[in-house]
Amino acid sequence: MEVIIKNDYDGVCMEAASIIQEACRHRSSPVLGFPTGKTPLGLYEKLIGLYNQGEIDFASVMAFTLDEYVGLEASHPQSFAYYMDNHLFRHVNIKGENIFRLNGQPGNIEEHCRSYERKIQEVGGIDVQILGIGKNGHIAFNEPGSSLSSRTRLKILTPETVAANRSFFQDEKEVPRFCLTMGIGTILETKTALLLASGKDKSGVIAKAVEGPVTASVPASALQLHARAIFVIDEAAASGLTNKDYYRWAYENKGRTLNP
Ligand code: PGA
Repeated sequence: MEVIIKNDYDGVCMEAASIIQEACRHRSSPVLGFPTGKTPLGLYEKLIGLYNQGEIDFASVMAFTLDEYVGLEASHPQSFAYYMDNHLFRHVNIKGENIFRLNGQPGNIEEHCRSYERKIQEVGGIDVQILGIGKNGHIAFNEPGSSLSSRTRLKILTPETVAANRSFFQDEKEVPRFCLTMGIGTILETKTALLLASGKDKSGVIAKAVEGPVTASVPASALQLHARAIFVIDEAAASGLTNKDYYRWAYENKGRTLNP
């Protein structure tokens, strides 16, 4: 596990963008996993900027989205499909046929989730899965208590999430109660998990996820079991970590060879 501490949110987004740029440079068909939320917005802006400067090409990128509300059409402004189109996909040269999404209105939910997992396998797995983290430790919609080996599946949203979403919908009946989400087991199989966090209000959960015990009560702590997990966080989000100095030291020495 690697912890990269940047001064501020902008530094977090720049570092994450360069990790993704590097992954795209080294693969003919990079497979990327994309989250929604506030945190990745700055990263998506950087990726669009790099694309506009000819520094990254999405022509052969394959994209998988992490989760989706059940019941919303892709064109609904609150759907994650809409968010991804609006904040990234429509600004770059990614091909529509290379975007794979969890469908908020699947005919058969279980079959849809199984076929999503199959599709990930068919393309050779996800090279870089970008993640945010909830204050309660969730990754994707895997809320505390989610099985650490869970797969893509239907989840029931917490009452807090349902209540928080109420203001985004005109009619109470429209507010989603369910979602589809990649599981923690699905995320653990990605080749690189790139978790971003910014701000003091994430410091407690970052400390638990990075330095606390692996527990279903803090789903992000499962990333301690990931073969290549990278936490890119700012100083404020890092403020609860005990081993900060070591993470900085490791980052500074990363590029050095054994015989400098
Ligand atoms: P945020 O959400 O980026 O809006 O803080 C992260 C998450 O809940 O996964």
